[in-house]
Amino acid sequence: TKAVTIPSINALKAAGEKITMLTCYDASFASLMDGCGVEILLIGDSLGMVCNGHQSTLPVTVQDIAYHTAAVARGAKNALILADMPFGSYGTPEQAFHNAVQLVQAGAHMVKIEGGAWVAETVRFLVERSIPVCAHLGLTPQSVHTLGGYKVQGKTVESADLLKQDALKLQAAGAALLVLEAIPTALGKEVTDLLSMPTIGIGAGPDCSGQVLVMHDMLGVFPGRKARFVKNFMEGQTSIQAAVDAYVSAVKDGSFPAVEHCF
Ligand code: KIV
Ligand code: NA
Repeated sequence: TKAVTIPSINALKAAGEKITMLTCYDASFASLMDGCGVEILLIGDSLGMVCNGHQSTLPVTVQDIAYHTAAVARGAKNALILADMPFGSYGTPEQAFHNAVQLVQAGAHMVKIEGGAWVAETVRFLVERSIPVCAHLGLTPQSVHTLGGYKVQGKTVESADLLKQDALKLQAAGAALLVLEAIPTALGKEVTDLLSMPTIGIGAGPDCSGQVLVMHDMLGVFPGRKARFVKNFMEGQTSIQAAVDAYVSAVKDGSFPAVEHCF
């Protein structure tokens, strides 16, 4: 196997092969997931909830993400390492660059930023300075207080149009990848068809270029309420490795997500 890179991810999309991503927060799981062929390991700010027991992702700091990114980077061999920019770490392009450098120096190959047109300038600023960026649209959990809860986004014609405009602006600004969270299946397909960069869905339907889940959700160990888009891949398996293998197979063969996981 070879190192996963932005060109190799684009080649998967061009070949019509689905891209697999999972969240990961430590070296042991990184080694296991990497060995199962998961292409992208995301050090998500979801760690605030699944590792630290917070009620939202808002308390997570750049130092928290950097600590877990370093651990994941040590455990992974081939996977592309994607680190979340946490809440409050990208208010201006300069602040974003300063914080993204901390994550790249900890081992990230790419950083992820939540938000639409307002972050495009920051995306361009980072990409010009050699930091690849993954955008994130739809349900953006760092905006829980302005969104008024964790709800499906893009259900009206107006909000769907706005999301498509945002996606095009982020691509034009240089984003390499786009996470789409909790949007209708039809919109996930429309956005994917509109863009040249790959899309990675979580509750965005089967037509995205790839899929992502939070590892604690797909292993059935998160004690909270289970979102519609979650599938417990431990069911029917006798090891964590077999569950991750089953996830990779199900994404690759298009059997996950099924209709019951979609909006
Ligand atoms: O933090 C996270 O786990 C994420 C994924 C849900 C995409 O951003
Ligand atoms: Na996140």
